[in-house]
Amino acid sequence: MAIEKTPTILIADDDHQAIGILRQIMEGQGYKVITASDGHETREKVAASSPDLVILDNYMPGLSGAEVCREIKSSEQTRFIPVIMLTGFTETPDKLESIEAGADDFINKPYKAVELTTRIRSLLKVKFLNDELDSAEGVIFALARAIEAKDAYTQRHTERVSQFALAVGHNLRLSAEEQNALYKGGILHDVGKVAIPDSILNKPGKLTDEEFTTIRTHPDRGEKICKPLNSIRSALCVVRHHHEKLDGSGYPDNLSGEKIPLTARIMAIVDVYDALTTNRSYRAALPQEKAFSILDDEARKGWWDKSLIREFKKLVVI
Ligand SMILES: [Fe+2]
Repeated sequence: MAIEKTPTILIADDDHQAIGILRQIMEGQGYKVITASDGHETREKVAASSPDLVILDNYMPGLSGAEVCREIKSSEQTRFIPVIMLTGFTETPDKLESIEAGADDFINKPYKAVELTTRIRSLLKVKFLNDELDSAEGVIFALARAIEAKDAYTQRHTERVSQFALAVGHNLRLSAEEQNALYKGGILHDVGKVAIPDSILNKPGKLTDEEFTTIRTHPDRGEKICKPLNSIRSALCVVRHHHEKLDGSGYPDNLSGEKIPLTARIMAIVDVYDALTTNRSYRAALPQEKAFSILDDEARKGWWDKSLIREFKKLVVI
C-alpha cells in the first residue's frame, strides 16, 4: 500500500543528543519530526498533533515512557498510533513493562538505523490502513445520520437506541465486542433505508403489502452496505436481525428463539420502545407506561424476550 501523506513521527527523549540522531534518521526517510523531552510534553503533543508514530524512550522525567504508552493505548482516539519503545540492551524488566504497556515494538539501544527504519515503515503501513478503515466507517455513520436527518420524526433515534442498547448490554455484563456491536448497531441498524424511497418511508397513511415488502428489505440492504468494513463486523448481525421475533414471525430470516443473536434481541426491544415513545407521522408519542404495556403484550404473544424487557425497564423506569 502506498503511503501518500508525509508521516509525522513524534520522538520523545530527554537526551537532546539522542533526539538529534533520531531526527536525522527520520528526516532522511522523508518523515516530518516533532519532539518532546519529557512525559508530560509527550502527552500534550500526542493530543495536539496526532502523530502517525511515537518513538518513546522509557527513561524520561515526569511520566515514564511506559506510562505515556499505556495512556496512548487506552484512549479511543489514540490507541491506533504505533508506539516504539527504546530500551536498554540488557534491561529485561523494561521490555516486559513495554509489552505490558501495549507498545507495538521495542528497539534495543544502541540500535541500527536500518532496523529502526524498517520497523517504522511496516508499523506505518498498518497505521494508514487503520486510518482508511476508520474514514470508511465514518462515511457509513454519516450516511446513517443523513437518513435520520431527512425525517423530522426520527431525529436522534439512532443515538438514543444506541445508548439504550449499550446500557442494557453493560448491565448484562456482555463482552466489550458485544457492547461495541450494540453501540455501532444502534447507529447503523436502519442504514439500509437509504435504498427505500422517501414516499414509502414518510407515508402518513397505511402502507400497502407491496410497500411493506419494500420496507422489509432494509436489514438486508443495511448488512450489504456495512459488510465490507472489518471494524463494524460485530454489528452486522444487529443490522440484519433487528426485526426478527422470538416466535419466528419477524424478518428477514424468520429466525426464532436463541437463534436470534442476543445483541439483535436487545436492539429489537429498544428500537420498538423508542419508536413508541416518540412522535411519528401517524401518531403522537405514547407515555412510557403505555409503551411498556404494549411491549409486555407483544412479549406474551411470543415476539420479545421478557427477561430483556425487564432489564431494560430497570434502566429507564424511575
Ligand atoms: Fe429497522
